[in-house]
Amino acid sequence: MRYEGNSLEEYWIPFTPNRAFKANPRMVSRAEGAYLYNQHDEPVIDGSSGLFCSPAGHCHPKIVEAVHEQMKRNTYTAPFGLGHEGSFALAREVAALTPEELNHVFFTNSGSESIDTALKIVMAYNNARGQGQRRRFVSRERAYHGVNIGGISLSGMVNNRRAFPVTMPDVVMMRHTWTGQDMFCAGQPENGAELAEDLARMCATYGGDQIAAVFVEPVAGSTGVLVPPKGYLERIREICDAHDILLVFDEVITGFGRMGHNFGADTFGVTPDIMTMAKALTNGSIPMGAVAVKDEIYDTVVDASPDGAIELFHGYTYSGHPAACAAGVAMMQIIREEGLFQRAMEMAPYFNDAVQSLKDHPMVKDIRSIGMIAGVEVHPGADGPGKRGSALQAEMFWNGLHVKFTGDSGILAPQFIAEKAHVDEILSKFRATLDAHQG
Ligand SMILES: Cc1ncc(COP(=O)(O)O)c(C=O)c1O
Repeated sequence: MRYEGNSLEEYWIPFTPNRAFKANPRMVSRAEGAYLYNQHDEPVIDGSSGLFCSPAGHCHPKIVEAVHEQMKRNTYTAPFGLGHEGSFALAREVAALTPEELNHVFFTNSGSESIDTALKIVMAYNNARGQGQRRRFVSRERAYHGVNIGGISLSGMVNNRRAFPVTMPDVVMMRHTWTGQDMFCAGQPENGAELAEDLARMCATYGGDQIAAVFVEPVAGSTGVLVPPKGYLERIREICDAHDILLVFDEVITGFGRMGHNFGADTFGVTPDIMTMAKALTNGSIPMGAVAVKDEIYDTVVDASPDGAIELFHGYTYSGHPAACAAGVAMMQIIREEGLFQRAMEMAPYFNDAVQSLKDHPMVKDIRSIGMIAGVEVHPGADGPGKRGSALQAEMFWNGLHVKFTGDSGILAPQFIAEKAHVDEILSKFRATLDAHQG
């Protein structure tokens, strides 16, 4: 079949019901600050920072300028065996933000690539330290670690796995941490720390010395914002230490100030051995991800190879791309100069109160919030889980609000440049859409 003119058919849209979307497309023609503009040039306030990517606001002039200047000077440098200043500069900046011992940074182009890179670094490190028998990975129900085969193997989301049966075989799942005991919770739930004992049981079943690493999102984002119960991450860290297992925090959403601190690790006071990141690293402006590792991991892998040999047989053609590095360095400057994380920290109580005020709405089943992120879960519709979420996302867009729904949870994650008036606008449009949907 051939398509003519301005057909929407040729583009296969990711993670989107293609037929429904193409019948009623929601297009963004431009974006600025806290707003997107639809195809009719009507403003749509961004309640999810895009896909949790753009806390500094859309089209930030400093990023636009930095990328433009970079592209005039150097559009591409082969990252294998050659260097350019930007990748070293950005690695220094990122290492300065990560917890103290995580001082080495590997660049990727997405969160998914960061996860697969972290899996490989874990394997390389265990081999280099003579512990190659550690082949088992631990993940968690309701985890989202991207869409590459490594990430899918760690995935706790059934729809992301169902059609792709060939995954890494040696992955076991801890239970997720939503217990239903702390409904409408702002901050960390009181109940559920004992779920960390799943890891202890796995060590008892498989042998702690057979487990390579544990992957967790400090706050599970994509399955509706599951905040870790008090004491949970601390206990996971303790068990990892007892068995010399690496702890990987997937900070793709929680990194770069989402809870007011640099990373989730800082918010919860638990330091992982490896941290994956992406999204806000460049304010979402240019695709980029990163993996930060402890000195001990980098040193062991690098020192295990003879001089002159490649130490880690891994990398991407676009690792540390000059445009992405320029965007990242500009973003790090914006974070400092505009006190972006401080703004998130200061707005968080107002945002949490505002979002929890939806509790009285009859369509709302639960609200989980912390810092500048919240999952508002609505009761599923009669046609099954997830359908109502998609419908609401579309309706909100035409009501002038962008919110990303996953399943029946709307994930609110305002930009850090948001003023109280923006938060109010997001919440009033959210509520109005629920009212209209219900009516
Ligand atoms: C925690 C987490 N890890 C990994 C990813 C995958 O990132 P990407 O879509 O950039 O591949 C995401 C994306 O939302 C995420 O939330």
